[in-house]
Order: sequence, then C-alpha cells, then structure tokens
Amino acid sequence: MAENPADLHARFLMGNYATLPVTLVRGEGARVWDDAGKAYLDFSTGIAVNALGHAHPTWVARVREQAGKLIHVSNLYRSEPVVQLAAELSKRCGPGRALFCNSGAEANEALIKLSRLHGLRKAGAEGVCTTVVVAERAFHGRTFGGMSATPQEKIQKGFRPLLAGFPSAPLNDIKAWDRLLDAKTTAAALVETVQGEGGVFVADPTFLRELRVLCSERNILLLLDEIQCGIGRTGTFFAFEQACVLPDAIAMAKGLGAGFPMGAIWVAPPHDDLFTPGSHGTTFGGSPLAATAALATLEVIEKEGLLAQVAKQSPAWHAALRAVGLTRPDIFRELRGLGYMVGVAVNCEPRPIVAALREAGLLVVPAGENAIRFLPPLTATEAELAQSVDIFGKVLAGLPRA
Ligand SMILES: Cc1ncc(COP(=O)(O)O)c(C=O)c1O
Repeated sequence: MAENPADLHARFLMGNYATLPVTLVRGEGARVWDDAGKAYLDFSTGIAVNALGHAHPTWVARVREQAGKLIHVSNLYRSEPVVQLAAELSKRCGPGRALFCNSGAEANEALIKLSRLHGLRKAGAEGVCTTVVVAERAFHGRTFGGMSATPQEKIQKGFRPLLAGFPSAPLNDIKAWDRLLDAKTTAAALVETVQGEGGVFVADPTFLRELRVLCSERNILLLLDEIQCGIGRTGTFFAFEQACVLPDAIAMAKGLGAGFPMGAIWVAPPHDDLFTPGSHGTTFGGSPLAATAALATLEVIEKEGLLAQVAKQSPAWHAALRAVGLTRPDIFRELRGLGYMVGVAVNCEPRPIVAALREAGLLVVPAGENAIRFLPPLTATEAELAQSVDIFGKVLAGLPRA
C-alpha cells in the first residue's frame, strides 16, 4: 500500500516548514478541500497569493492557452505577453520601467542592487553610498539580501555574517528615520506599505509623505515593498496610492501571478536606466507563461471591479470582526490593517487559535508575535466574509477563559 502523504512528507521534505497536518487536494473560489473531503474557507490564500481565489475560469483559460503556445524563452528574446504586461503595469505604476523575476525575495534583491547602483551614481565611487534604511519588524525575504534587510532575530539567527548596512528605525517614527537617512552614505529607504509577516502594521500616510520629502531632499531612493499588500489587497492597486506618495521603485510578487510564481520591480525615471546589459538577470524571470498569469490577474481585477469591491466590503467586515473580538476582551487586543489584509492582535499565542479556526473550517495565518492574519481572495463575497466572522465568533466563544 502506498505510504500516506504525511509519512512521505516527513521522510522526503526538509524540515524548514512547520507544515500543518492537512493535505489539500483542490480549490474553487474562496474554498479548498482536503483529502478527506473537508471544505475550508481559504482566507490564507497561500499567504496572500491567490488573489483571484482558486481555479478562476478566466485565469485558468488564459494560462492553459499560453502553456500550449509558448512557456519559456529566456530574456534573450522578446515575447508578446511580457511586453504587454510591462505596458499594463505602466498604467498602474506611472512613468518608468519593469524588471521581472520569480518571487518576492528576488524582487527585493533587485531593489537592493538598484540601490547600490544609485549609490554609485550619486557618490561617484563604489562602497561609499550603500546603506539601506529599513523598518523595525520588517520582512523582506529569505535570501541574504532579504534577510539582511529583515531586522528580526528569528529570521537572521544562524546565518550571520549578513550583508552590512541595513540600519532600522521604528515604522512611523519619522524623527528616527530623519536621523538615519544620511545624504552621503544612504542609498535607499525600504518600507512595506503595510507590514505583513511582522504582524500587519500599516505605514501612516503622513509618515510616508514625510519620508518621501526627506528622501527627495537627500537624493535617497524611496523603495516600497508591496509584495504582500499590493495588487489590490488593500482596495487600491497599490497600498501607497492611499497615502498619495510616489516611490522611486516598487517591489511586487505574490498576488501578481495569483498563484503562478511571479515577481517584478517597477522603477521610476531617472533611475530606470541604472540596470544595463549584464548588471542583473534571471533565467526564468518574466516568462511568457508567468506574464500571461499576471495579465490574466490584472484583467480579472479590472473586469470584475475587484478594487472597488474590496474597498466597499472591507469596512463592514472589519467592524464585524472587531465586534466579535470585543466579546472576548480577555483575548482580543485590536484589529489592524487595510482592505483584505487584516491582523487580529490577541493577548496570547495565536497558533492555537489559528488551529481551532482551521478545525472549524477557516484557514488563516499567524503573523508577528501575536496576530492572526485574514487574507481573503479579492473575489471573496459578502457572504464569505460574513462566514469568516461567524466562524471566528464561534471559535472565540469556545476558547477557555483565563
Ligand atoms: C513584504 C514581503 N516582502 C518579501 C517577501 C518575500 O517573498 P517570497 O516569499 O516570494 O520570496 C514577503 C513574503 O512573505 C513579504 O511579505
């Protein structure tokens, strides 16, 4: 008899994930099913990836068709979907140009390399202007650049020495950033517009605007990591639109391919000529198939009016989640976030609550020290949002009182 997936997983996969005891076999819309036939409302969306839910018919049709036509050619050649995607992104990002890659960490690597080239142009010599100021509690990925830009002990532990030159300041404390942003030695400021892994903390619009001014005055790049909060998750295509700021470069991934591995950076002029032939590259980045997946994502977001839908439906959903939370003041601390990126902060270890929610049929993700992250697909209906509140309420009511 064939071994079960749990045994095979334990035997043949490395132990770098605390994988949950669930084998998922299929998905449709906001729902997934496990191998025992149990249905879950999927508000984890593969950690903010499945922007259109599972198996969206338009996305599936576009990707299927392209897979039968042209999957990969490398960046040695042009392909239609790739140039089309860059043109589509320009409508959402403004003037500038794109560079495609395969993941969030890779997008941030590209931003870090961009900042080095900017520093070189600014100082006229290598190694002088290299510092990238980051926010406390930030998460920018697991590569060496990403880890170095992620000032969290649990991420960096065991991997030192990391890249030098990533001082951190508290998010939203503009005075602290002002002190660290040195006109001579700082190449860039790198900020998640809404921190995800750190616990769902929103960058204040005022903070972002003041940071923009400081960066412009000192010729420092303002780099916004929209890998988790971008592509419509907060009710605007990018979360920074709500603060009315324009960054010098944007990192995106996750929701962009809506399930297909896809990352990108967008760089505004005059910095979009910093990469020249040979200065950066990736074999797989920006394949015709990945670009088609991203084009399909943008098409569905547009055609189904998902930005407006997220913006319209989220206030009532937040209020209902908060109201349910307040029935257990011994557990619930606060609700943070924007749109379909919500963190419910609790007074205890969130993992047992996440496990109880899963048992009750709702998939969510822990974040930071004490938050439970709700990341519905952008396609989630009012009824599905209401169902998440209902399950959350029932699970909270069943938790033991201290
Ligand atoms: C804000 C942010 N940046 C970067 C990353 C890294 O992305 P990836 O896991 O695709 O490498 C993540 C992943 O969670 C993220 O949330």
